[in-house]
Amino acid sequence: MARRSSQFICQSCGAVSSKWTGRCEPCGEWNSIIEEQTGAGIGGGPGKPPRSKGRVVELVGLQGDAKEAPRIQAKVAELDRVTGGGFVKGSALLVGGDPGIGKSTLLIQAAAALANLGHRTVYISGEEAIGQVRLRAERLGLAQAPVALAAETSVEDILATLEASPPPALLILDSIQTLWTDQVDSTPGTVTQVRASAQAMVRYAKRTGTTLVLVGHVTKDGQIAGPRVVEHMVDAVLYFEGDGAHQYRILRSVKNRFGATDEIGVFEMTGKGLVEVANPSALFLGDRSTTAPGAAVFAGLEGSRPLLIEVQALVAQSSLGTPRRAVIGWDSARLSMILAVLEARCGVRFSQHDVYLNVAGGLKINEPGADLAVAAALISSLSGLALPANCVYFGEISLSGAIRPVAQAPARLKEAQKLGFEQAYCPEGNLKDKMANGFSATGLPELGDFVAKLAVRSGASPQD
Ligand code: TYD
Ligand code: MG
Repeated sequence: MARRSSQFICQSCGAVSSKWTGRCEPCGEWNSIIEEQTGAGIGGGPGKPPRSKGRVVELVGLQGDAKEAPRIQAKVAELDRVTGGGFVKGSALLVGGDPGIGKSTLLIQAAAALANLGHRTVYISGEEAIGQVRLRAERLGLAQAPVALAAETSVEDILATLEASPPPALLILDSIQTLWTDQVDSTPGTVTQVRASAQAMVRYAKRTGTTLVLVGHVTKDGQIAGPRVVEHMVDAVLYFEGDGAHQYRILRSVKNRFGATDEIGVFEMTGKGLVEVANPSALFLGDRSTTAPGAAVFAGLEGSRPLLIEVQALVAQSSLGTPRRAVIGWDSARLSMILAVLEARCGVRFSQHDVYLNVAGGLKINEPGADLAVAAALISSLSGLALPANCVYFGEISLSGAIRPVAQAPARLKEAQKLGFEQAYCPEGNLKDKMANGFSATGLPELGDFVAKLAVRSGASPQD
């Protein structure tokens, strides 16, 4: 008799082991391992009998007919930008984000926009009842949009429903964690179920040319819950981020087989749903104090879009043996590095001071190009002198104290000028292009030069 086999699968990282343990070895998560039955069927693995003979497929060369992937645009500029110019037909997207961030709102708005443009759109909610979705649509003023709606969680029922009519242009499944298929023997939300359901739906999308959008929840450590495996199955992964204290939301592409990654779209959550923000720099710099020491404006880059962000530092005398270093919105290891370089190469000492660093507006910066702005904010706070209000900073600092060039300097400078800034401190290597009139950019080879320039301006020597 065939033995019923089971596996132990980590619900956090998807690692499979043959026995239960309290802690998952590969990802270090506690209590995340669950026993799941492995049977035949979709994604079930070795349950199927092996096929006796394979089919011969034709091998072709790289050259030949290749058309640009056909796209459907929602005509929502911020959304179309992130998807790389519109949803690609027959592709699958995963939209991840914290609960309550606005994923359902974003997608019902996108669904309505596409439906109003004449594309057949199906929205299947596994989390909310039809009444709830309708209520939201009504509140958003979208009740008239010809979106086909259902509340369903069974993959077989969803597929049967879809097969009964011509395939839609856009299919939204909210969320992947609620779907289940009776082909596998696990509870909904487990890795095996999510993987099998996603696989079945992606297969439908590829076969019919429907664009599939899957909604996925994010765990507390910021990964799409359960399976990273779903991220490999889909063509694009978008994260919807933001924090509770702020109204704006950022849609970021972290993987895109049909476009650039790291592209962002900025929205604002209002009483009437999500509204596009065409000029995010103005939003993030909106309520900045120009006279307080410790604030520097970083001319950053998100995907292909320049973005001005305020970096705030507070350097205060410490009463602790080991001074505190606290960072919000930036890498704390990177802050330690900048502090060490300032100390070792420029003689600016922070060893008796607590250092707090914050990126305004709750944004997160990943770019090393922010180094120079961080250094400027730190020095400004330490010396108690505000930096000029009309100046932006960017540049990567190396361990030797050299300031390295960053990508797309002209775009950054142009954005700064557009927003009324008049000067910039940037890497010397970035100063190849001619500056526009009325804007002065100072190229810096070394961090030491920068510290000396700030010291001259304040009429003092670097603090010790
Ligand atoms: P929702 O789309 O349900 O989030 P998710 O699907 O990611 O869990 O968004 C819910 C939040 O958005 C809720 O806290 C209320 C807020 N919201 C508004 O502020 N304005 C609106 O018009 C809507 C529809 C929601
Ligand atoms: Mg939702």
